[in-house]
Amino acid sequence: MTKRFSIPVGITATGQHFPEKIVTNNYFAEYLDTSDEWITERTGIKERRWVTQGEASSDLGAKALQMALERRGIRPDDIDAIIVCTVTPDMPFPSTASIIQHKIGASNVFCYDLNAACSSFLYGLTTGASLVASGAIKRVAVVGCDVMSILADKNDRNNVVLFGDGAGAVIVEQVDEGYGIQDFEHRTDGAGGNSLYMLGGGSLNPATHDTVDKKMHYLYQNGKEVFKYAVKGMSEISRLMIDRNQIDPKELKLFVPHQANLRIIDAAAKRLEIPQERIAINITRFANTTSATIPTALHQALEKGMLSKGDITLFAAFGAGFSWGATLLRWGY
Ligand code: ACO
Repeated sequence: MTKRFSIPVGITATGQHFPEKIVTNNYFAEYLDTSDEWITERTGIKERRWVTQGEASSDLGAKALQMALERRGIRPDDIDAIIVCTVTPDMPFPSTASIIQHKIGASNVFCYDLNAACSSFLYGLTTGASLVASGAIKRVAVVGCDVMSILADKNDRNNVVLFGDGAGAVIVEQVDEGYGIQDFEHRTDGAGGNSLYMLGGGSLNPATHDTVDKKMHYLYQNGKEVFKYAVKGMSEISRLMIDRNQIDPKELKLFVPHQANLRIIDAAAKRLEIPQERIAINITRFANTTSATIPTALHQALEKGMLSKGDITLFAAFGAGFSWGATLLRWGY
């Protein structure tokens, strides 16, 4: 059975923000045993943006949200809630959502952070849409912002090349009948927790000199294992959306996958028979920005005119947890 809301709810505006500093593959080749050729071939990434000192997730998220508000033609006071999707909050508390609230000057909102790793944005979209569908809330801002450059050991060639910093934001509200979110599905399997994690800094291993000496404040992943499950998870859950809604893959105007590795995207798209020109890709220029990959890829696809009113679009994500999900949406603007 499709999971459709009782009233039509969709995305009515998007925004994005990236730090100015561009880090190319050649930057790493200067001090690590790596090369532009290896990184490009194995990941599809050519460059990424990194923050400079003092620039935090909330700075990126606030700017992305301000752009989305401007594009929608509304003021910060016109939104009722802000959900911030992030694995790199400015600090454990207060929430990055409340910091963004203060930065943009939204006075009628309640705010909270949501963490489902790379699936955060899709979980946030469903959560925000559910609030709107309840009828009690009119407009929700869902912001995906991450500063992934802090999570990778700068001397670890396995991880440091994969990540970038950035933010995307969407406005979620009621749309015309027949448009908006048509279906969604999310999954979590904690058995995958030992393939992708960060051990230090939480209640299990509070930050100490020892945890820092042991580099427990950096992420660890079994790349091959994550790769395998990401292809399987994203393609199977996308197939479920396609089959359950009796969509011919040729009808799909846009596929917006999480951007962790171009080879993961290509393998999933191949299984789904989605042609290259209908895939929103921004990993090449921005790398894996975790919660920001889907909203920024969507924003950029809209800028390129890849989506028009009435078009069916499919979002799919996979990340730590393991967590994964897909959302099917008929674009309403
Ligand atoms: N430059 C040169 N060589 C490298 C680099 C590098 N930057 N990184 C790794 N290598 C080496 C490895 O050390 C290994 O060498 P070895 O055989 O001597 O040990 C060799 O390249 C081959 O490594 P593989 O693991 O076979 O490479 P693979 O093709 O699997 O690519 C990668 C590795 C890019 C990590 C891939 O597995 C991947 O993208 N996995 C998924 C990552 C992901 O999606 N993570 C989730 C996002 S994080 C989140 O959710 C918060």
